[in-house]
Amino acid sequence: MDTINDDEVMLKIPEKGMKEDEIFEQLHAYKKMDIDWRSGRVLGYIYDAGREAEEIGKKAYMMFLSESGLDPTTFPSLMHMENDLVSMMAGHVGGDDQVAGNFTSGGTESILLAVKTARDCSRKTRPGVTRPEMVLPVTAHAAFHKAAEYFDVRVVQTPVDSRTYKADPGAMEAAVTSNTILLVASAPSYAHGVIDPIPEIGDLAHSRGLFFHVDACVGGFMLPFLRELGEKVPEFGFSVPGVTSLSMDFHKYGYTPKNASVILYKNRTIRRHQLFACSAWPGYSLANNTIQSSKSGGPLAAAWAVVHFLGTEGYREFAKQTRHATLKLVEGINRIEGLRVLGQPDMFMFSVASESVNVFHVVDQMKKRGWYLQPQLSYGNSPENFHISLTIANVHLIDDLLGNLRESVDEARKQKSGDIVKIVKDALGDIEENSINEDNIARMMAMAGIKPGGIPGGDMGDVNEILNALSPELREMLLKEFLNELFVTRSGN
Ligand SMILES: Cc1ncc(COP(=O)(O)O)c(C=O)c1O
Repeated sequence: MDTINDDEVMLKIPEKGMKEDEIFEQLHAYKKMDIDWRSGRVLGYIYDAGREAEEIGKKAYMMFLSESGLDPTTFPSLMHMENDLVSMMAGHVGGDDQVAGNFTSGGTESILLAVKTARDCSRKTRPGVTRPEMVLPVTAHAAFHKAAEYFDVRVVQTPVDSRTYKADPGAMEAAVTSNTILLVASAPSYAHGVIDPIPEIGDLAHSRGLFFHVDACVGGFMLPFLRELGEKVPEFGFSVPGVTSLSMDFHKYGYTPKNASVILYKNRTIRRHQLFACSAWPGYSLANNTIQSSKSGGPLAAAWAVVHFLGTEGYREFAKQTRHATLKLVEGINRIEGLRVLGQPDMFMFSVASESVNVFHVVDQMKKRGWYLQPQLSYGNSPENFHISLTIANVHLIDDLLGNLRESVDEARKQKSGDIVKIVKDALGDIEENSINEDNIARMMAMAGIKPGGIPGGDMGDVNEILNALSPELREMLLKEFLNELFVTRSGN
């Protein structure tokens, strides 16, 4: 990627409009930079239900691409589709007709809204709260930390069981103070794919009069189908007393195009605190149901279409096949010497750690074989690992995956590890964490092979090893600095 030198000019809007074929030639060239997710070898980010569902989603998306969700009185079609989806999802997760909710752009927006709503409602009902806090098991998604930063709610993290990686209700209870407004649990957690003990946490929330958000972004769609198929799925939805809000994503295991999620509340009295209206300006009267204001109807229509296209029959079949494949994969991985699946995944997501081989090198070796596995750094009692989110698009490749994983572990065993961490640690030895600044961050990035403005090519093992050896605070600083380097103004050509 280019950055601008003195003798160059900044990229400009073309004076003359480009021809269609030129435009798409350029867009295709950009697209070639991306991972080939249609291969079925991408075990994260992508939820691909096949060509037919994709076409249905895209057709509906295009049909409502230009309609705006800003004003339901001008575009009531969008409001109707939103109410349809909210109603279906409320019933799907044990809710009644008191449940109120909205369609959002993704899990993060749903979670941001849940935290803001709990904060604003508590401001009204609990004036004694001086600085609102939320109690999060360490496995709660990073989006809650984002919400904390955006809405100034303090995060109080609690440990999870070191064998099951599930939240510890006792630890959560001990963390509750007079400032606590919200408890959080996952169904399942992203990092380990396990469902927290939601009924116990619900009891705690209920008895203390706290909000309780269940993050079912991953599981909300599929867990009820797994239960129907006879799997032991613990209660996680509005059937649990104490649950006050729940998020679930269409664009994950609902297999709809991005950006599609839903935030649900136990009732409209709570949901009222999510809404925003502004009349303190001379422009149009603004009334927003979610964070976005102007928003395309595309994602909503696409979600509506794909949910109706697949139907419970389609989803149930996906659930059955994906669960079967997950169990086979987990068993196969646990049989590979040196690898171990962390906890017992309740759905189709899990993580794999090793005491004898560098997991980041395994990720690189798998990449050479055409696979994308997601590296995860150590945190709390969770060691560094790689993550797999299995979907219907990967289930036919399990034997292939296991074969390549065996080879990759053998190769990774031959690779040296630890040297790069020693080099960086020695170089940083004299720098106190609180004196880290742009200069030494730049040094660290250079040591990690990250050049300004560039995505590191090739192996990422060393970069991940370095990040893994640093404190979470330093990791965060580096990651932000990295982003700051990536998104830059470009020169014209
Ligand atoms: C459990 C959980 N919650 C929330 C999110 C955030 O969702 P999104 O990426 O759609 O914002 C994720 C994303 O993976 C997740 O796994």
